[in-house]
Amino acid sequence: MMSGSGSQLQLQDREKALVLGLWEKIAPQTETLGAEVLSRMIRVFPETRAYFGKLDMIPTSSDLQTQGGILLEALGDAIKNYVNLHELLTTLPELHMKTISVIHEHHMPVLLCIQIVLASHFPSDFNTKMNISWTKFLKEVADIISEHQNSSKSGECEPTPPDDSV
Ligand code: HEM
Repeated sequence: MMSGSGSQLQLQDREKALVLGLWEKIAPQTETLGAEVLSRMIRVFPETRAYFGKLDMIPTSSDLQTQGGILLEALGDAIKNYVNLHELLTTLPELHMKTISVIHEHHMPVLLCIQIVLASHFPSDFNTKMNISWTKFLKEVADIISEHQNSSKSGECEPTPPDDSV
């Protein structure tokens, strides 16, 4: 069990095993599946297109395949190194929240589209337990990536600023 501080939902061992098991099937096709996730996301949630302004996001483009592959590979690394999840994802909050300025609400579209693509490609694997496990896993990753925003509300995961007022 990990000891991170940002999320309330952590995978039980059996849930982690389910996510890892499906990851073995995802791994050989991360670019194809990842491109499908992003293609679906920007069509169903057009407001998310703006984040990818400089990229060619037509479904067959190499940009989409590359970016989709990066997204799913990051999730593969995350589940394989779940015990060190916060350390592994350490650069992503800065990138997403400060550089790209992804708002917290825009994580839901990608999490939803990932699950829809997985369920449609692996229907016999994606039963309710698998669905629960991926929901928890993806929420945990998204919570870490959003930490800069969350921490300003909750006070977690940021050093306490020095009190210069006294
Ligand atoms: C499960 C959640 C997510 C994961 C694991 C993830 C992962 C990543 C990774 C690993 C990178 C590349 C980092 C690098 O170049 O160093 C990246 C870049 C990026 N991500 Fe995410 N991301 C997530 C959610 C999102 C969301 C919700 C959006 C916007 C709706 C988004 C938009 C982008 C953009 C625009 C880039 C940079 C693309 C470029 O110009 O190269 N990501 N993401």
